Amino acid sequence: MGLFDSSEGEIFKNEEVFSPEYLPNEIIHRDKEVKEIAYFIKGVLKGNPANVFLHGPTGSGKTSCAKYVLKELEEYSGKVKNIYINCWHYSTRYSILSQIAYSLDQFVPRRGLAPDQLIEIIIEYGKKEGKIPVIILDEVDTLCKKKEEGVLYDLLRIGESLGGKVSCILITNDYGIVMKLDQRIKSSFVQRSIQFVPYRPSELRDILNERARAGLFPESYDEEIVGACAGFGARNKGDARIAVRLLWNSAKEAEKESRKKIEIEDVEKAKKQVLVEKEGERKEKLNDNDNEILENISSEWVESSELYNKLNLDKRKIRISMETLEKLGFIESKIDRNTGSKSVRKL
Ligand SMILES: Nc1ncnc2c1ncn2[C@@H]1O[C@H](COP(=O)(O)OP(=O)(O)O)[C@@H](O)[C@H]1O
Ligand SMILES: [Mg+2]
Repeated sequence: MGLFDSSEGEIFKNEEVFSPEYLPNEIIHRDKEVKEIAYFIKGVLKGNPANVFLHGPTGSGKTSCAKYVLKELEEYSGKVKNIYINCWHYSTRYSILSQIAYSLDQFVPRRGLAPDQLIEIIIEYGKKEGKIPVIILDEVDTLCKKKEEGVLYDLLRIGESLGGKVSCILITNDYGIVMKLDQRIKSSFVQRSIQFVPYRPSELRDILNERARAGLFPESYDEEIVGACAGFGARNKGDARIAVRLLWNSAKEAEKESRKKIEIEDVEKAKKQVLVEKEGERKEKLNDNDNEILENISSEWVESSELYNKLNLDKRKIRISMETLEKLGFIESKIDRNTGSKSVRKL
């Protein structure tokens, strides 16, 4: 047998269903949340846009539920235009407004336009096409961290004083930082909020069973494999993304060795890889300061005053970075009850 006519394809029926962009046909165990989003957003059908705020940990289904509702909405009515923007990729006022204009199929000259001109394009689109843009702003905390939340005022202004209409779904896994936003933004964007909680093990198992049915040949896996992947997701804070990725990587391990069935050893191997990938993704979210500070913290407790002395950085910046690192689970901190001094260590 030649090198390239191996048994490729005998594990995967449709590998695409494992990709992060894939939107399942059915969202399971999130009926309540899906219905709530639909209820809040349905005013657009009558020309009354509303904003919705979704928050909860990574892998709890926020993005999938929001996209699912908007897909249904667009299919149901010609009066809406869905736009998805991940603020991690588009993280400035200018890039977000441009991306909205692009998504509305509007011509934006290459030399660029001023923000107010982009806003005008968005408003004109609504009037011309008779459609309301419904915009998902995913990972919206990025805007707060980069001090680019001004674009939220732009979107607010479109509806309040500029005679246009847009509806927004804001999504975050950092509830705290969004709550620090200005009261005006909060009362308009965060008023209708839905909390997503981590999935329970049995729910992860159902999600994975569904995904396995859609993506793998039935002979290529059994219950034990799905259970092991769901269990791993459950231990990683009920994160469905980790569970789906583990199943995907396990299947790839088996495929790599030209086997027709996923074995538990494949899952074990894939676990390590998933953890490395997860760590890599978390690190991508850190800036240079955060990284430098992280490198100077070991697994032994160190007083933060010592760090301040050691690092040639602004104290305030160090404090902010330490907050970020702690929130993302890279470090932990404790306060000495007697002296009131703070110590940190790497996790
Ligand atoms: N209720 C669900 N039904 C089916 N698949 C789901 C469900 N919730 C999450 N998933 C899958 O799990 C992964 C992570 O979900 P996602 O919506 O991206 O979570 P979040 O946005 O909260 O981080 C995706 O691959 C998604 O398809
Ligand atoms: Mg998401």
